[in-house]
Amino acid sequence: MTRKILVTSALPYANGAIHLGHLVEYIQTDIWVRFQKMQEHECYYICADDTHGTPIMLRAEAEGITPEALIERMHGEHLRDFQGFHIEFDNYYSTHSDETREYANDIYAKLNKAGLIEKRVIEQFYDPVKEIFLPDRFIKGECPKCHAKDQYGDACEVCGSAYSPTELINPYSALSGAKPVKKKSEHYFFKLDKCEKFLKDWTQGKKTPEPPLQPEAANKLKEWFAAGLRDWDISRDAPYFGFPIPDTDNKKFFYVWLDAPIGYMGSFKNLCQRKGIKFDDYWKKDSKTDLYHFIGKDILYFHALFWPAMLEYSGYRTPTKIFAHGFLTVNGEKMSKSRGTFITAESYLTQGLNPECLRYYYAAKLNGTMEDIDLNLEDFVARVNSDLVGKYVNIASRCASFITKQFQGKLASSGTIVPVLERVREHAPYILRFYEDRNFGFALREIMHLADEVNRFVDTAKPWELAKELAKDKDTTKQQTLHWVCTQALNAFRLLTLYLKPVLPKLALDVERFLSISPLVWSDAVTLLPAGHKINDYRHLMTRIDPKQITVLTEANKESLQAAPQAHSQQRHAQHQEKIMEATTIPNVITIDDFAKIDLRIARIVNAEHVDGADKLIKLTLDLGTEIRTVLAGIKPAYAPEQLIGRLTVAVVNLAPRKMKFGVSEGMVLAASGTEPGFYLLSPDSGALPGMKVK
Ligand code: 2FM
Ligand code: ZN
Repeated sequence: MTRKILVTSALPYANGAIHLGHLVEYIQTDIWVRFQKMQEHECYYICADDTHGTPIMLRAEAEGITPEALIERMHGEHLRDFQGFHIEFDNYYSTHSDETREYANDIYAKLNKAGLIEKRVIEQFYDPVKEIFLPDRFIKGECPKCHAKDQYGDACEVCGSAYSPTELINPYSALSGAKPVKKKSEHYFFKLDKCEKFLKDWTQGKKTPEPPLQPEAANKLKEWFAAGLRDWDISRDAPYFGFPIPDTDNKKFFYVWLDAPIGYMGSFKNLCQRKGIKFDDYWKKDSKTDLYHFIGKDILYFHALFWPAMLEYSGYRTPTKIFAHGFLTVNGEKMSKSRGTFITAESYLTQGLNPECLRYYYAAKLNGTMEDIDLNLEDFVARVNSDLVGKYVNIASRCASFITKQFQGKLASSGTIVPVLERVREHAPYILRFYEDRNFGFALREIMHLADEVNRFVDTAKPWELAKELAKDKDTTKQQTLHWVCTQALNAFRLLTLYLKPVLPKLALDVERFLSISPLVWSDAVTLLPAGHKINDYRHLMTRIDPKQITVLTEANKESLQAAPQAHSQQRHAQHQEKIMEATTIPNVITIDDFAKIDLRIARIVNAEHVDGADKLIKLTLDLGTEIRTVLAGIKPAYAPEQLIGRLTVAVVNLAPRKMKFGVSEGMVLAASGTEPGFYLLSPDSGALPGMKVK
């Protein structure tokens, strides 16, 4: 029976680069979607950039561009990275769209009508210099528990305790450094507590044919219910980049997390309009179609509580299932910029590494649970080389040329089917089940066992020896045997390709061309290639990874730190996991004399250009009033060179010149970064001139 399935991955923020941590989820989802499509189900995979919120607004401001221009640029970069890894969305859209706005307004109006929105005046920290309410992560200060300095407003990185920003000792704004003041303002709250009965039933599977959550997620939910559901603050005050709440005179905006999941609907609506799909079939209450959300375990609260409650009480369907996955570690540790393991998608591809190797490795590690997965770089090389090149591709590379040379590219009749080929064929339903359950690791283990067996068959049959003997003496039986062996092996290879296709779509396409067959779908698992089927010449399918490529990759990802520690972008923790490990705790107290040792000057950027071969660096020419200097700054991810020319900034001029891979840097420029992605070059107030001392 053909199913109708709508699948989503979490929407990445529009102000950070896609990295290997993100890719766990997109690769996982893409494999599952491709698998569903291979079963010829009607399946749509949608996503979008998550474009709203304070960090995006501030980053755009720092770059001197509009938030719209920023999110447009990021959209292009994200799409490029996803395509590079063969993530095939049916639609990759933006939450900053008319469609999403309409659904946000519609859902909000219905929740309001249902009596689930309450307005209350609350007191919050406000930056009197920037004239903006400060999100928790933009406030720093001393931890109220362990007294560590410079901790964020929501949790202490030193002792791990969580608190509210009002509890910080000596708080300051991470934006301006100013002491925040408390200011009152009216906020809009979603009364989650009123949805408790529904949510308990829903999360425990009482509302759906199958439980919507994994068992460990359902347990987590129980803890949250026990702790009590709290009202959810869904409004933010201007200035804010987002959708204005209707009838607030553009003074109040929906909090980014309100419209983010609504972006799933917006993206799908946009697809429906383009493709003539019926939106209501997928979103109306009691819809018979399936809706699956793939997410990281860190955003379970939003997807398993807020989101189903929003949908239920505004008259839409609720998700069929929510699939949460764990975090990525690299070499057993959190991704780290100093170790070069905070690897961007772009840098992986730029190093010439094959995206399908990462797809394969992640798939081999993934199962249907929320466990973290580890990318061990040494194991990655060994496993990919051994499984894909040594086992799978090896089958074709050992048999194809005989068919081409001795039999004009034509296959024999399958005749007696060798038991191993039968076994490969019989495995289809098991492998199918593993894919359906997201047990990709099990699926690949089975497939590789089968590949081993096929290789053993080829080892025993030794087609190369048969061919050698045939060259001496044209024995018809030997010729038939050779033809039969290679035909059996290539049939097995075709089936293994089918099984691997959700994980290795590009390689499967190359094999389909080589075997001259139409795109493999799951129902092809019962057939074999007919006698006389003509294949094309075998061409090299996959190259081994050279371990040196990995060294170059981690070195390249270290580069930006070495080049510009001052501009170290505090990217959003990989799925909330990169907890700003390298954020140095400010060394205790220094004297004014210590401070005076640093010669800070106003500099005008008179020229800025790309550095050949460096993906993080911009070469800046600084006018320091009395001299011109060259500085290599790792700010390329945040700025285009042309945006910088003419700007004033602050430079450290008495730093020893540093010889780097791409030249000598004669100082550094200062930039700020917070907990959210992005960094911001400092600028003086107007009136400052190149060469002026900063003190
Ligand atoms: O955590 C994040 O990266 C969010 N941008 C995910 C949003 S998912 C959905 F709700 F939009
Ligand atoms: Zn603490």
